[in-house]
Parts: sequence; C-alpha cells; structure tokens
Amino acid sequence: MEIETATLDKLKIVDERTGKSYDLPIENGTIRGTDLKKIKSSAEDPGLMVYDPAYMNTAACRSAITFIDGDKGILQYRGYPIEELAESCTFLEVAYLLLHGELPGEAENEEWTRQITYHTMLHESIKKFMDGFAYDAHPMGILVATVGALSTFYPDARNIHDEASRRTQIYRLVAKMPTLAAFAYRHSRGLPYAYPDNDLTYTQNFLNMLFKMTEVKYRPEPALARALDVLFILHADHEQNCSTSVMRAIGSSHADPFSAVAGACAALYGPLHGGANEAVLKMLAEIGTKDRVPAFIKEVKEGHGEKRLMGFGHRIYKNYDPRAKIIKRIADDVFAVTGKNPLLEIALELEKIALEDEYFVKRKLYPNVDFYSGIIYQAMGLPTSMFTVLFAIARTMGWMVQWEEMLLDPEQKIARPRQVYTGPGERHLAPLAKR
Ligand code: CMC
Repeated sequence: MEIETATLDKLKIVDERTGKSYDLPIENGTIRGTDLKKIKSSAEDPGLMVYDPAYMNTAACRSAITFIDGDKGILQYRGYPIEELAESCTFLEVAYLLLHGELPGEAENEEWTRQITYHTMLHESIKKFMDGFAYDAHPMGILVATVGALSTFYPDARNIHDEASRRTQIYRLVAKMPTLAAFAYRHSRGLPYAYPDNDLTYTQNFLNMLFKMTEVKYRPEPALARALDVLFILHADHEQNCSTSVMRAIGSSHADPFSAVAGACAALYGPLHGGANEAVLKMLAEIGTKDRVPAFIKEVKEGHGEKRLMGFGHRIYKNYDPRAKIIKRIADDVFAVTGKNPLLEIALELEKIALEDEYFVKRKLYPNVDFYSGIIYQAMGLPTSMFTVLFAIARTMGWMVQWEEMLLDPEQKIARPRQVYTGPGERHLAPLAKR
C-alpha cells in the first residue's frame, strides 16, 4: 500500500495489492476511519481498519468545548485562554461558560448560582450508605460508589433525551459532588457531617463542609477559597482525556449520568491520570530532602519507564502545561496564609534538574497540572487521599458538558471500537476426560 499524494482536501491511496487507487476526503486534518473500509484486497475482505492502541492518533468526536495546542502549551475553554479565566472568573462562571458556550451576565450568573446552591443537599440515606465504609476507606473509592448510588435516588435521570431533565442532573451533579467529597472526608476523620451553608460561595461552602467544627458559622479564609476557585477552573475540562472518554463511552450506551460519572471517577482514580497528584506527594515525601533529588532522578532514568517522575509528562503537552504555570503562581497566595509547605523546595529542585536533563528534554517531559496542585492542597490541610477527589469535583462540569455534546451529536452512536484478533483459529473441544 502506498500513500502517494496528499492535497489540501483529499488523500490519494494506491493499494499495491490490487492496483486500485482511492481518493479519501480530508476534513479538519482528518480522514474518516470508515472511508478506509472501501479499500479491500478481495470481495470477502471486510476492508482496511486503523490499528491505534490507546487512541494515540484517533479523533473520536468533534467538540466545541476545549482547545489544546500541546506543542505551544495553549489551553482555551470556548475560545477563552485559561490564564484569563483563572485571573478573572469564579469556578461557577467558568462552569456556566463550559455549559452554555458564553460567559454569564449578572442575571444569568445569579440564577445559575442559585440553582447550584439549591441542589447541594444529599438525601439523608446517603449518610447511612457512607457510614458503611471502613474508617480508612479511600475517599475516591467512596466517591465512585456514592455518586453511582445517587442514580437510584434520581431515576428521572434516565430521561437523557429530555433537555430539562439533563439540566436538572447537571445542577444536581455539580452541586452534590462537593457535598459527597466533604462527607467522605469527614467520614475518614470520624467527624460529624457538616451540612452545606447556602450563604457561602461554591468553594467557600466546600471549605465549610470540610473544616467546620463547633463554631455556629464557619468563616472561610478568602485567599484559600479563591485558590480553590482557580484550581477548580484549571481542572474543569481537558477535552478527550481518559476519564472524559469513559464518560462519553458510558453515556453512549444511554446509561444515566450518575452511573456515567461514577465510571469517569474510576478512570480518574488511576495514578497515571487524576491519581497523579496524590502520587506526587508520596514521591516528594519519599525523596525527603533536596540533596536526594539527583539520586532520585538517576533512578527514574535508569528505571526506563518503570519508575516515573510523577507530575511530569503529558500525552498532549510537549511543552510546559499552562495549568502548572498558573498553579505555581497561586501557591504563593496560599502559603502566605498557611505557611510554606516544606515539600515545595524539593519540587522546585526536581523541576530545575529535570528541565535541564537530557532524558527529560529529549522526551519533552515538563511539569503537568498535578506537579504543584498537591503541595497546595496539603498546605490547606487536606490529606493526600483527598487530592483526586478535588480533581473529580471540578472535572464533573467538563464530564457533563462533554456528555451532553455527545448525546446531541447526530454522528455519535454507541462507542464500539474494533480489534485485531490474535487468538487461535477455529478448533473443536474434546470431552473433559480427554483434555
Ligand atoms: N517520568 C519518567 N519518564 C517518563 C515520564 C515520567 N513522568 N512520562 C513519560 N516518560 C517516558 C516514558 O518512559 C517513555 O520513554 P521511552 O520513549 O524511553 O520509552 C516516554 O517518556 C514517553 O512516555 P509514554 O508513556 O509513551 O507517554 P504517554 O503519552 O503515553 O504518557 C503520561 C503520558 C502522563 C501517562 C506519562 O507522562 C506519565 O506517566 N506521567 C506521570 C503520571 C502523571 O503525572 N500523570 C498526570 C497527567 S496530567 C493530569 C491528567 O490528565 O490526569
């Protein structure tokens, strides 16, 4: 098979097996995978397929939500640079932007905030459900289970083709994820659950549900609530990553969104994805002191992929992750309130050495969003096991918007990849006694 010429709008392929040539249209820098089916070596041949493990070079959808240029380190939501959004917006404004495609005006923002605030409470039975977990259960495991369980409380969520119902589920999920997360944390600490306070903003209320003790009214530290807003903005969406692809795939079978979010949370849990922020902190603690950084880098290089520098590298960014740059800046605001996290020194040293080291430079490995976020969360008093949970709260908005976009896309169907079968050819079984 020879690919002869690529013009602006078509690709000419000559099949050397048959001598036939094919013109495949090129649209938005892609050819359609199904167009390759026309290329057959014989009438029985089912046609050519694309073999692309881990979807390294396959676009599975059109999307108008998030744009990333990984080589240049650019991230935009609905066309707005992430830096501008992080500088000037609240998380809820950005959530509205992701959902509606435009930033809210004052009245829209008020109504959107009212809806989210109104839905923050959980059914009391969820507390009993949560009580069933062991005291040391990982909060991410609790989140996966409890968000999935919410589908049984809201059977109307199955009406996925009804726009008003979809909107209600979006309000519910975005509103209830912080409550579930905070309850999971309080459970692990043996503390009574703290109910939402509707006078507070989204992130202030989250801090209230995490940290309220005996005081009548919890007064969140404004700098910490603002830092959380920025961190949530940075995590809100990231186009077709592992958990979002899972959300779309589950949603494509027309499962309700609570079940789909449970699946997306499970994908996020892994240390190569959202679990990396927890893994970074474990790694920094393992290194322990700045002078042990060179030895650790050496181990990573000699490990040839077995041991990784967590919080470094990205499938799409082959440049500094723009989110990591913003996080590094807000770290100072947080440390001004909480005092400096001693692990910061080790992280800065790791980054400095790695950015100069040929191994990392050659592979274009730069700090990603998870490299500094955990250091900030830890300074705020959160245990490492909560870090991925915080990621999940913010990413729920992105999952919901991507889910709705998938449902409304007339080109989408149930997700169903192909395979290259490598097992035995047809054979026939012998009775048990003769095997
Ligand atoms: N430390 C050391 N070597 C690495 C690292 C790392 N963190 N990441 C990639 N490499 C090496 C890898 O061994 C391979 O080397 P070689 O070519 O010699 O085999 C090369 O770089 C390419 O790696 P890859 O695994 O093919 O790259 P990928 O695009 O499949 O993986 C990644 C991307 C994020 C899974 C990977 O960089 C990684 O494991 N990073 C550490 C975990 C992490 O920080 N994850 C958070 C990602 S950002 C938040 C999110 O989206 O969830």
